[in-house]
Amino acid sequence: MTTRVDPVRARPARERHADAAAVLGALPVPVLLLDAENRFRHVNHAAEQFLGISASSLAQMRLSDLVPTDNPLFMLIEQVRNTEVTIADHDLTLESPRINKRGITVQGSPLPEEPGAVLLVMQDASAARSLDRQLAFRGAARSVSGMAAILAHEVKNPLSGIRGAAQLLEASVGPADRELAELIRDEADRIRDLVDRMEAFGEKPIARSAVNIHRVLEHVRKLAQSGFAAHIRFVENYDPSLPPVWGNRDQLIQIMLNLVKNAAEAVTTPSVKRPEITLSTGFHHGVRVAVPGSTTRVDLPLFVAVRDNGPGIPEDLRPHLFEPFVTSKPTGSGLGLALVAKIVGDHGGLIAVESRPGRTEFRLHLPVVSEKDADQ
Ligand SMILES: Nc1ncnc2c1ncn2[C@@H]1O[C@H](COP(=O)(O)OP(=O)(O)OP(=O)(O)O)[C@@H](O)[C@H]1O
Ligand SMILES: [Mg+2]
Repeated sequence: MTTRVDPVRARPARERHADAAAVLGALPVPVLLLDAENRFRHVNHAAEQFLGISASSLAQMRLSDLVPTDNPLFMLIEQVRNTEVTIADHDLTLESPRINKRGITVQGSPLPEEPGAVLLVMQDASAARSLDRQLAFRGAARSVSGMAAILAHEVKNPLSGIRGAAQLLEASVGPADRELAELIRDEADRIRDLVDRMEAFGEKPIARSAVNIHRVLEHVRKLAQSGFAAHIRFVENYDPSLPPVWGNRDQLIQIMLNLVKNAAEAVTTPSVKRPEITLSTGFHHGVRVAVPGSTTRVDLPLFVAVRDNGPGIPEDLRPHLFEPFVTSKPTGSGLGLALVAKIVGDHGGLIAVESRPGRTEFRLHLPVVSEKDADQ
């Protein structure tokens, strides 16, 4: 008589555990195993990265060392223990001095062989949402481009007429009226500047070449430090091995200047004792994005980031940050970030934002020169 032996089960339990640990380790999704006392029994590599805490430190901790016990995550875990079924919760905030994560989806499952143990699988939905928003921003920028063309056409001509007439008046009226004529001229200039900025939203194809992003950053830093950011310390954190960006140099300067200007404005407030802006570049594999209007996806391995230690982006502005005319500044036009989103979109890139008091970072993911581009 022959007995059929399951080749997997026939192997010693120790080997099977080693396999399971290897599979968990390789999973790109954060997975954490809690014991009945909410101590971390096992965390995979993705979870270490996600939480920014090493497995050996986590092994010494309980969940309550990471998030306060009134966090809904504790309720989810208790529900899993009581009902012994898998439960998911969306849009959780994991916030404590150690971590700061929002929009997290957590799935909790019981482990039948280990009473009280709960397996947590986490997903950062905010990354997906920020991608969705990106696409919406592109739409917003596009709606401005049509308006910009009309404005440029219909407003600029009559405006120069108004300005000219005011100048003529200035020369011929008495001092009291001269002041009024000057006011007309200045305000006409302000409108013209605004229209000029909006013209940048026009739908023109961009001329691209291989651009050294570090030279762009150097140029912008010098401009900033000799003007609006003279009082601010700059930290540069560049990866010198980066390949060139496939883009338009002038537009890339325009983007970086807008981001650095915003950062400088954010840190110029009495509450920031040591104003600081950090410029960094590097590789970040795994960022892929769909090319609008096609099924192709492109890799965006290169990132450029502008970080400041200012008070953070006002909460109510965040959902609309990249839309035109969104501003919290008395004299701001709210066009800076809308323009940044438009140009980055034209380059086929992406922007991600992370902001909390003391740390705001705008991170651009940009395409590098491919062999196909280099041949052109
Ligand atoms: N680094 C930052 N820190 C805090 N808030 C920021 C930062 N960058 C942008 N913001 C917020 O986003 C808003 C929109 O920025 P955006 O650059 O589009 O317009 P603006 O700076 O107000 O005006 P403009 O750039 O046209 O002069 C700002 O008013 C500010 O509230
Ligand atoms: Mg701005």
